[in-house]
Amino acid sequence: MITVRHFIGGEWAGSTDGATFESVSPIDNTVIAQVARGGVTDADRAVDAARSAFDHGPWPAMNPAARKRILHTAAALIEERLEEFAAAETRDMGKPIRESRTKDIPRAVYNLRFFADFAEHTHTETYDKPWDNVMTYTLREPAGVSACISPWNFPLMLETWKIAPALAFGNTVILKPAEQSPLTASLLAQAFADAGMPPGVFNVVQGFGPGEAGERLTGHPGVDLVTFTGESATGRLIMAKAAGTLKRCSFELGGKSAAIVMADADLGRAVPGTIDGLFRNQGEVCLAGSRLFVQRPIYDEFCARYVAAAQDLVVGDPREPATQVGPLVSREHLDKVLSYIQLGEQEGAKLLTGGHRLTDGPLADGNYVEPTVFADVENSWRISQEEIFGPVQVIAPFDDVGEAIALANDSRYGLAGMIWTTSLDTAHKVAREVRTGTMWVNCFFIRDLRAPFGGMKDSGIGREGGLYSEEFFTEAKAVVLQFPS
Ligand code: NAI
Ligand code: MG
Repeated sequence: MITVRHFIGGEWAGSTDGATFESVSPIDNTVIAQVARGGVTDADRAVDAARSAFDHGPWPAMNPAARKRILHTAAALIEERLEEFAAAETRDMGKPIRESRTKDIPRAVYNLRFFADFAEHTHTETYDKPWDNVMTYTLREPAGVSACISPWNFPLMLETWKIAPALAFGNTVILKPAEQSPLTASLLAQAFADAGMPPGVFNVVQGFGPGEAGERLTGHPGVDLVTFTGESATGRLIMAKAAGTLKRCSFELGGKSAAIVMADADLGRAVPGTIDGLFRNQGEVCLAGSRLFVQRPIYDEFCARYVAAAQDLVVGDPREPATQVGPLVSREHLDKVLSYIQLGEQEGAKLLTGGHRLTDGPLADGNYVEPTVFADVENSWRISQEEIFGPVQVIAPFDDVGEAIALANDSRYGLAGMIWTTSLDTAHKVAREVRTGTMWVNCFFIRDLRAPFGGMKDSGIGREGGLYSEEFFTEAKAVVLQFPS
């Protein structure tokens, strides 16, 4: 049994009131950790530590090259401990080990390295008006104490996506990991401590949102900004709470992105690409192409190939290197996904494959669902409008590209999307006309960390990545000089 504590002001700590909760592995629903359950006073202690490190500590004013050295040291330590991190992530939330090892943890390492380097080269501007004897220049200063609130589907990868720029630009941080996936945040805190980060710069408060640590951070007057990834409904609550103290907010929220497959697409790429685009991480992916629109001339052939590929996916114990689809994060989430499968049948969708929980042998104890594909789905149905966040694909035919774009836009979300075509004109038209934060052309999930990342409509507010992260995690100050004439 693992004991998970908060990390506040450079010290491991339990909750002030001694409260804990049990963390369960989705592999078999056994309890694997006792986790400190952060309440209001624990959040307050973490804010005090982060506030004091920001207002009086060395971090914000440190030479960025020195901050960079510490972040690079931490990155190297995570890399050295990769197996430990990967095993913890997989046990905690059910992610296939091959993903943890080769994607999530390496990407977390890269997040640290990328922003450590990027922040060393921040730029400032000068606006010169010699005819008026006036010159204005800008300074970029760290924005302050940052609350980072993250979800469970890519725990360390999404945590570091926020923490790395926050720290690299000189802020101090309080991380509130998702209650379903507390383990790797502790390993991260240890890596930062071992790398020589000053106490109070990076803090972790474990626990829940409403009424407890998470909500307190979003309403605490000592917190300057909130970066949140999670459900759109939670984003609404956090924004309302943060309004009381006028915090800067960045939100990366839900999605129901369209994957459009044109008749001219190379199906040798489009079929595996859209399979990965939905079933990766057992469908627990905000960016997933979870509405699949296929042009009518190839609809039947595509569906047949898609079903065959879905049936080929290896579902099972995520600790096995061959496993491609692991268990869903929790019993509650399993029930939610199964209820959407039932709903799909009620709404009249054609079930092409899957549809059941897997209960063979040891899988009976875990939260496993067969890769499930529905066809002939109307876009207005709930299974096509709501985020299922599991291994459930919905497919519908369309006639021309204009119709596909209209279908893609008929959604409250606008996070990502894919277009599979061999026509550059079609690719560009779709990229231009779909209201979404990212559009992938003949690919999925590839990210250049300099590029903006975020969503339109209910999928988010603001962008992170490269200069967008610099904008969010720094304050720009204008300094105005007047010279004698
Ligand atoms: P969630 O919104 O339930 O929880 C996310 C985090 O917010 C957790 O740490 C939770 O404890 C905390 N929280 C909950 N209520 C709170 C409150 N009132 N105040 C402060 N904190 C609170 O999201 P979940 O279920 O963990 O993650 C799945 C969701 O995340 C999906 O909707 C998914 O689409 C979205 N997501 C979005 C991504 C993006 O980049 N746009 C990436 C990954 C996931
Ligand atoms: Mg949730």
